[in-house]
Amino acid sequence: MRAPVLLAALVGLVAFVAPVAAQSLQRAPRINYMTNCQGCHLPSGEGMAGKVPPMRGQLANFLLVPGGREFLVRVPGVANSTLNDADLAALMNWLVPAMGPALPQPFKPYTAQEVGALRRMRLQDVRAARNALIQKMPAPTRMAMAEPPTP
Ligand code: HEC
Repeated sequence: MRAPVLLAALVGLVAFVAPVAAQSLQRAPRINYMTNCQGCHLPSGEGMAGKVPPMRGQLANFLLVPGGREFLVRVPGVANSTLNDADLAALMNWLVPAMGPALPQPFKPYTAQEVGALRRMRLQDVRAARNALIQKMPAPTRMAMAEPPTP
C-alpha cells in the first residue's frame, strides 16, 4: 500500500473508532440497566403495579429527604447487584437524573467508594424504610409518589 493510501485509511479508522468508543462509554450504564434492572423496573422505569414502584418522574424525589440518597443504593436490587461499585455508581449517576424529576439543587454524583460503603448497609425492612422517607417529603411530592409495593 502506498503511503497516502495508508494514511487515508488510518485517518478514516481513527475518525470511525473515536466516536464509537465515546458512545459506548455513555451507553454502558444503559446496557447495565437493561441487563440487571429492566427485568423488574421495565425499559422506561415504569415498574409493575403493586410489585415494583415506578421510577420515572419519582426517583429523584428521594434526594429531597435525609437518608434518601443512601436508600437508593441500599435497596436490594441495587445493593445485591452483580455490578462492581464503579459500574453501579455510573449506573445510578445516569439513572437518577434520567428518571427525574428535575430538582432545584444539582444532583451530586455518587462515587464508587460511597456506593461500596452504602451497599454493605443492608436495609432490614425495605418497605418500611421507603414509606418513612415518603412521609418526610413535602405534601404535593408525597401525594405524587406511587403506592408502595404490596408484599
Ligand atoms: C427482582 C426485581 C428487581 C430487580 C432485578 C431490581 N429492582 Fe430495584 N426495586 C425493586 C423493588 C420491588 C423496589 C421497591 C423497594 C423494594 O421493595 O425492594 C425497588 C426499588 C428500587 C429503587 C428505589 C426506588 C423506589 O421507589 O423504591 C432503586 C433506585 C432501584 N430499585 C434501582 C434498581 C437498579 C439500579 C437495579 C439494577 C442494578 C434494580 N433496581 C434491580 C425490584 C427490583
